[in-house]
Amino acid sequence: MAQTQPKSPRPARDWPFQVKPLHPVLGCEITGVTLAEAVSPAIFAKVYEAFLDYQLILFRDVDLPPATQVALARNFGEVQIHVLSQYHGYKDHPEIYMLSNLDKDGNPSGKHPDKGTLFWHTDGSWRERTGQATMMYSEVVPEMGGETEFADMYSAYNLLPAAMKAKIEGRRAIHNFDFSRTRRHGEDPLTPEQKAKVPPIAHPIVRTHPDTGRKAIFLGDHAEWIEGMDYKEGRALIEELNLMITPPARVYTHTWNPRQCMVWDNRCTLHRATGFDESRYKRVMRRCTIIGDKPF
Ligand SMILES: [Fe+2]
Repeated sequence: MAQTQPKSPRPARDWPFQVKPLHPVLGCEITGVTLAEAVSPAIFAKVYEAFLDYQLILFRDVDLPPATQVALARNFGEVQIHVLSQYHGYKDHPEIYMLSNLDKDGNPSGKHPDKGTLFWHTDGSWRERTGQATMMYSEVVPEMGGETEFADMYSAYNLLPAAMKAKIEGRRAIHNFDFSRTRRHGEDPLTPEQKAKVPPIAHPIVRTHPDTGRKAIFLGDHAEWIEGMDYKEGRALIEELNLMITPPARVYTHTWNPRQCMVWDNRCTLHRATGFDESRYKRVMRRCTIIGDKPF
């Protein structure tokens, strides 16, 4: 395990495609390779390298039917079948989690499909083996709003005041999907069966990325309380940290166009969606989350 942060998180690389940063802190667009080429073993290793270096990668103007999306996601690892089965968009592809505000007739319903997405979080942090990558594909995007914001959790850790670093050193937060779901989307809470599948789980607040060896803050909206700390005190500290680690200057806001495929690293980023007028605009996004390791 690395004891110190690598000096150059983005060493010079020899990639068989072009990489253009999306933001000074994180994110890149990959061009000059098709998705079909990108999944060939030799090239996928390079794509994964770019994914690690930039924390999120974007492919614009791609066709990604559901079956292809799941197949592409499997290159990253085991694809999650989400406990909230009401979001499974395709009978044959339960790995796909649909975020759509369309009603049965295909019109805007006026309802946000998942208000939990509007708060800073990392996907699947409520699991024992948390989200590694999330792959999002944009089908229909609103004219206004519905962006996705990303914050870098490596620099969030590096930039914490020493006193705060000392305060959270060795601490674990309890991530609880029932807590965040009830709090943010309480009109559609977990069923008792769903709740039984996702018991609260403790994860280190400072985790070590298993591939890069770099330290990152691992927190967000699913974190409810802190082990060994008074509940209210822990809640207050989580809220304070969630603000500290997402300063606007270090956030990349992605404005979607249709047919974009983005893959982000849940182990070193937080993300949230921005709101949109759900009664006026349509927004249809397809998501796959790849299951990673137990954080350490
Ligand atoms: Fe998410």
